[in-house]
Amino acid sequence: MYVPPHPPYAASGHGSVLVDENGHSVIDCNNNYTSLIHGHANADVLDAALGAARRGTAFGLPTRYEVDMAECLAERTGIQQWRFCNSGTEAVLMMLRAARAYTGRDLIVRFEGSYHGTGDEVADQSSPGLAEATRGSVIVLPQGDLQALTDTMSRLGDQTAAILIDLMPNRAGLRPANPEFVHELRKLADEHGALLAIDEVISLRLHWGGFHRHYGVEPDLVSAGKIIGGGFPAGALGGSAKLLESFRPGADRRVMWGGTFTANPVTMAAGLTAMRLYDESSVAALNAAGDRLRGQLLAAGVPVNGFGSLLRIQATDMPSLWWKLYNHGILSGTNGLLALSTAMSEEHISRIRDAVIAATNA
Ligand SMILES: Cc1ncc(COP(=O)(O)O)c(C=O)c1O
Repeated sequence: MYVPPHPPYAASGHGSVLVDENGHSVIDCNNNYTSLIHGHANADVLDAALGAARRGTAFGLPTRYEVDMAECLAERTGIQQWRFCNSGTEAVLMMLRAARAYTGRDLIVRFEGSYHGTGDEVADQSSPGLAEATRGSVIVLPQGDLQALTDTMSRLGDQTAAILIDLMPNRAGLRPANPEFVHELRKLADEHGALLAIDEVISLRLHWGGFHRHYGVEPDLVSAGKIIGGGFPAGALGGSAKLLESFRPGADRRVMWGGTFTANPVTMAAGLTAMRLYDESSVAALNAAGDRLRGQLLAAGVPVNGFGSLLRIQATDMPSLWWKLYNHGILSGTNGLLALSTAMSEEHISRIRDAVIAATNA
């Protein structure tokens, strides 16, 4: 995280407020890049994490927590099986590997501007350090361009393992995908025997069952992360038993999966509590608060995108706007992202509105 000349350093966080080392308090709308759905140090989440930690922080055996967590995610998302890792990056990498293993194909089709973590296939393909073979196994298309996708699939569909999409890519502007485009993706993937891989690392929070349920589309594979860790490092891959079978120890041509701290009980206990607290009515209330805030900002002339509890101010003068917001008492993402948390009261949200209007007019 960098804002020139250098970022302030965080000292503590409680609920929706973060205090930096200079004693400056801000309402935290970054929430560790959207992962802290209940803000900082939520008492129930902390109790769950500490309770688990007191009984041992990591074991070379599974624990009940990970089964409960998988069941919680399965019930919400409608996706049968889940495996855990420690970041969204890993979840996406394993999602691509699962797709390649299942289809026996190499090619990944994905969309411009979307961030899917730091793996080679999802990095900017002009980045130094990538193998030529990696560059050759990824095609990047403009999101929403159905013609480009149809053309690509008619040429290369029989080599495509997966179409990878984030339904509301933050770095590409935080605009929800066009529903027609999403349904066409599903159809095209089926027509060509490719898998539809939806990256819900950020967007899971936007609907009780994940954003794909808002679209009414059934993915083959889903990656998750951020909020499912309750403030601790987490990632997960969801899919049908048929698709995740390849990772099962003892499976024919087993696909490799490992991780010393995967599904550790502290993350699982904290994450499970965070997810249970973020129930259907809580999701709806937070989205409604985000919609109201977006409406008020738009009415005040502030250009802002997003859906529900995620907003992004459209600005060309970052990091100058970042500092203006910070000085007005708001911590945003370095791209103007604002992620609401359940720790925010109506009064906090009014303060966010006033600070954003003041900072964008300054
Ligand atoms: C859509 C999406 N996918 C994957 C990732 C990577 O997750 P992590 O930072 O936990 O590795 C991110 C992180 O911001 C993300 O927004």
